[in-house]
Amino acid sequence: MRQIINKMGDTMADLAELEQKISDQITQADSLDALENIRINALGKKGEISLLLKTLGKMPPEERKTFGAAVNQLKACVNAVLASRKTTLEDAALDKRLATETLDVTLPVQADPANAGRIHPLSQVWEEVTAIFADMGFNIGDGPHIETDFYNFTALNIPPHHPARQEHDTFYFKPDADGNRKVLRTQTSNVQIRTMETQEPPIRVVAPGRTYRCDSDLTHTPQFHQIEALVIDKTANLANLKGTLEVFFKAFFETDDLKMRFRANHFPFTEISYEVDISYTRKGNEIVIGDGDQWLEVLGSGMVHPNVLRNCGLDPDEYQGFAFGMGIDRIAMLKYGIPDLRAFFDTDLRWIEHYGFAPFDIPSLVGGLSR
Ligand code: DAH
Repeated sequence: MRQIINKMGDTMADLAELEQKISDQITQADSLDALENIRINALGKKGEISLLLKTLGKMPPEERKTFGAAVNQLKACVNAVLASRKTTLEDAALDKRLATETLDVTLPVQADPANAGRIHPLSQVWEEVTAIFADMGFNIGDGPHIETDFYNFTALNIPPHHPARQEHDTFYFKPDADGNRKVLRTQTSNVQIRTMETQEPPIRVVAPGRTYRCDSDLTHTPQFHQIEALVIDKTANLANLKGTLEVFFKAFFETDDLKMRFRANHFPFTEISYEVDISYTRKGNEIVIGDGDQWLEVLGSGMVHPNVLRNCGLDPDEYQGFAFGMGIDRIAMLKYGIPDLRAFFDTDLRWIEHYGFAPFDIPSLVGGLSR
């Protein structure tokens, strides 16, 4: 019995020594790989502790009980030290990674080249407007900016000395050799004449373009933009004009809650003539186009005057049609809440960053007009 106790005492001492040895190895392990090797040497199939456990079967029951408990305790202890060291090493590895892989989030992000630059709101609106009319089956027309008096005025039923000429603040050129003075076109309506002279009805055309008048304030600049529309065939009538405008405004302002008001007016080149208003409400400082009881004038329109048809060689008894002219700058200001027209032409980078559009957001009725 004494022998057994002695023997057990020695064995326990051996276990304590083994525990110390493995613990020291674990503490000194400087990598997860080294730690894994220590684990295999101690607890793997052929590990020192596993082999000890295998000897239990051959021991007398008394001894097995005490020794078994001791070895299992050793095993638990080694497992605990292993787990703790593993956490320490993992934390250290993470700290090291964090220290080397620093990311300075305050550094400016490099600009995406595909998103560099901005589309001017006017170019955007020009595209939007033409996309809508093209979808309705209109062709796109154009005419010269330096225009003769005939195309800008006379052919449009504004003969010399007509009072309407005074309203246009026209830029005149010096007289040509024949004494006639060219003008910077004051309206895109010259395209009406040029189109009817060169195309057979049925005609369905819109002409966006630059126009010029000697005027400058918050809502006027010497150069501005209009879009002219002309429809000529044998039956085009006021209902068609109204329907065209309704489809256009609802698409352009992206709302179905829009009302129009036709006010009788006078333009020399139309008979009957209307100015057209659209409805809006004010929300704080903002103008919101759509349902509302306030009105904004947006365009001039009417049935093409018989004299204009005649001036273009068309018989007013056979052909008729409607026309309208609208300020592109004005509807751009209304749609995008831009308060001062002059800023359109100031080439201020901060302004274009604010009001401009991403270069690849090309407006279309399918993809969305303004997004
Ligand atoms: N040309 C006119 C202007 O600049 C606008 C206009 C009014 C155009 C009536 C038209 C129209 O085609 O029918 O003030």
